[in-house]
Amino acid sequence: MADSPSSDAEGPRHVALIMDGNGRWAKARGLPRALGHRAGVEALKRTVQAAPELGLTCLTVFGFSTENWRRPAAEVSELMGLVRNYVESDLGRLEREGVRLRIPGRREGLPDDIRAIVERAEARTAHNDRFLLQVAFNYGSRADIVDAARRFALSGEDPAILTEDRFERLLSTSDAPPVDLVVRTSGERRLSNFLMWEAAYAELLFQDILWPDYGPDSLAKAVEAFRTRERRFGGLEPTRQAG
Ligand code: FPP
Repeated sequence: MADSPSSDAEGPRHVALIMDGNGRWAKARGLPRALGHRAGVEALKRTVQAAPELGLTCLTVFGFSTENWRRPAAEVSELMGLVRNYVESDLGRLEREGVRLRIPGRREGLPDDIRAIVERAEARTAHNDRFLLQVAFNYGSRADIVDAARRFALSGEDPAILTEDRFERLLSTSDAPPVDLVVRTSGERRLSNFLMWEAAYAELLFQDILWPDYGPDSLAKAVEAFRTRERRFGGLEPTRQAG
């Protein structure tokens, strides 16, 4: 890849999406929230399809947060059902298209069948390297950092030689390249405990579109917006890499 002194013209490689606005999309149509989430899955499929053509090698989406358990039981169970259906209906195609599927997040607390489905999906696509799709599920950044700290403590390694690189490899997102761009839809402007370590140097973009209306055009606009940004990673000069 050629060096670009002032902007990340070829990027972003890794985009993280906070898919917000399903409920409002449904409400605006007089529909139950569940139908907003189902339309959200269709938007996710369209967006994943378009991502490699836009130059991305990785997409991370926020499917269910550790805080989403506070929603009514029926909505929680709808979201569980959606991840089950999504994996079951799309796994074959993702596998054939060279997509590696990873489900960052806590496995404890998930219903046994969902746990089995996500583990099988990860195992079946583990050899793929054309594109990495991470569907964060039962995920919260603080929980993930605590879990990584626990894994480190249990490893018996010397804390005196712990580095950021080593710690990063203990996070459940460790297979992904650095996050270049975090997008949140629906006009909300929060990170909501999503990829707080990983997004330390990411660009942030807030798109005024409800998630079920998202798709290739919206992602293309996000990529275009990213390419106008100047990234300095804490230094004074525009650069391509943190450091
Ligand atoms: C936020 O909308 C969205 C979520 C809490 C879940 C995102 C989930 C999907 C897009 C579908 C699930 C797909 C998979 C494969 C896991 P909201 O309900 O908070 O919307 P609102 O703010 O308008 O109420």
